[in-house]
Amino acid sequence: MDGHCGVEIKVVDINDNIPEIIVTSLTTPVPEDSAVGTVIALISAKDSDSGDNGKVKLSLSSKSPFQLNPSVSNHYSLVTKGPLDREKHDHYSVKIIATDSGNPPLSSERIILVELLDVNDNPPVFSQPSYVVYVKENYSPGRILCSVSATDSDSGDNSKISYSLLDSKVQDVSVSSYVYINSDNGSIYSMHSFDYEKLKVFQIQVQAKDQGSPSLSSNATVHVFILDQNDNAPAVIYPSSAAMGSLSHQRMPRSAKAGHLVTKVTAVDADSGHNAWISYKVSEATDGSLFTVNLYTGEVRTKRAVSEQDDSSQRLLIEIKDDGEPVQSATVTVSILLEDGLHEPILDLRQKAVEPSKKTGRITLYLILSLASISVLSLVTFLILAVKCIRNSRSSASCCTRQSDCDDYKNPNRNLQLQLNTDGPIKYVEVLGGDMLSQSQSFRSCMSPMSEYSDFTLIKPSSTTDFKEVISVLDASLPDSTWTFESQQVST
Ligand SMILES: *[C@@H]1O[C@H](CO)[C@@H](O)[C@H](O)[C@H]1NC(C)=O
Ligand SMILES: *[C@@H]1O[C@H](CO)[C@@H](O)[C@H](O)[C@H]1NC(C)=O
Repeated sequence: MDGHCGVEIKVVDINDNIPEIIVTSLTTPVPEDSAVGTVIALISAKDSDSGDNGKVKLSLSSKSPFQLNPSVSNHYSLVTKGPLDREKHDHYSVKIIATDSGNPPLSSERIILVELLDVNDNPPVFSQPSYVVYVKENYSPGRILCSVSATDSDSGDNSKISYSLLDSKVQDVSVSSYVYINSDNGSIYSMHSFDYEKLKVFQIQVQAKDQGSPSLSSNATVHVFILDQNDNAPAVIYPSSAAMGSLSHQRMPRSAKAGHLVTKVTAVDADSGHNAWISYKVSEATDGSLFTVNLYTGEVRTKRAVSEQDDSSQRLLIEIKDDGEPVQSATVTVSILLEDGLHEPILDLRQKAVEPSKKTGRITLYLILSLASISVLSLVTFLILAVKCIRNSRSSASCCTRQSDCDDYKNPNRNLQLQLNTDGPIKYVEVLGGDMLSQSQSFRSCMSPMSEYSDFTLIKPSSTTDFKEVISVLDASLPDSTWTFESQQVST
């Protein structure tokens, strides 16, 4: 007898299948300027287990500028989550980890290589923002002046740099007629030699441009300083070579003493610095013991007194040198004629030049004298005016503002005061006399109310006698004097 029964065996799933990562689409390389959220890959996950064992979660392992966005069942999209910069990372290895929910969980991983595509986002950068070049003048044309260089951190054509000169003017001429630039490597060449005496410094604007699309550029300045070379000989200004000849003589009296200034040789040098530092030297002379030239000023003077034996025609060859390297020089011939009985104004000039303190002293003296005479003149004028006023006041009594002032004047032992008050430019004239014995008289006048500088004060006449003299002069100068000074009271 057989008995049958059906046995249903249920196989319990255990987590024995590793989850699988399937990349359905991948865009690479990705332009570095892709916007945030750009989809780079579509990824799905598969696990043959069932239940929790087949539930898969995807994640990214390391830090990267990407993230996984889940979409419908086990499908994900890999998108950018931040800005990308090829110049920092030109590719990323994105590690994706799939983990199921089994116990224990199983996982698998897959690496996606994302490459970045260069975008021309970096301009060329010069090694220096400005360059300084020193070039000697007369530097032969066609030679290299300097090299500029720029780098560009982009790649490919975006980093290929070409150099050019930006047009500018140097002394009204386009800079491109002075220099040219090798557009490939930035070497700058002079196109003609420079003359320091005409051009001392100029600027070149250089542009570096990459070949991206659109291209980027940057500018730099090259300062070119021309250095002076001793290429100019000293030029004699005086005595000028045109007027020189044998006819132009410097005349000097035979009576001249040692140190007599005969003439002054003047020369200039167009160079600068040491190259223009001129010195003078006698290189030939009819009589070497008679004349000397100052090394720095070029003044030709006698070394000793001229004697009767000296030849009346003297010739000096003066060499003028600069201090350059190599030295440049010029010569000038000075003819000197010794003349008898010639009275020289030059001697006076020389003495004045030699003794400037005496000269200024004399000027000061003249100034003092003229000031003093002007003061006396003004004083006398004012006294006359004052006296005229007083004369008027005898009839009208309008001159003295206070009666007491008039009283003071009438009593010179106490005080002498004259005061004039008119509507004209003269406000008042005041003559003050203190106690005559104490000799403290003062004269005072005010010309204008506007100016305080028009006050004249003459203090302390040296003696009362002087004061009387002044008064008597004043008295005499009045056309019809009705005013007299009571001098007998002064003498007390
Ligand atoms: C640039 O190129 C020129 C010509 O090929 C060369 O003479 C010069 O030395 C180069 N300059 C640099 C900085 O390499
Ligand atoms: C470079 O100079 C040119 C001309 O002066 C100017 O047009 C340009 O904007 C400058 N470029 C930069 C990056 O400054």
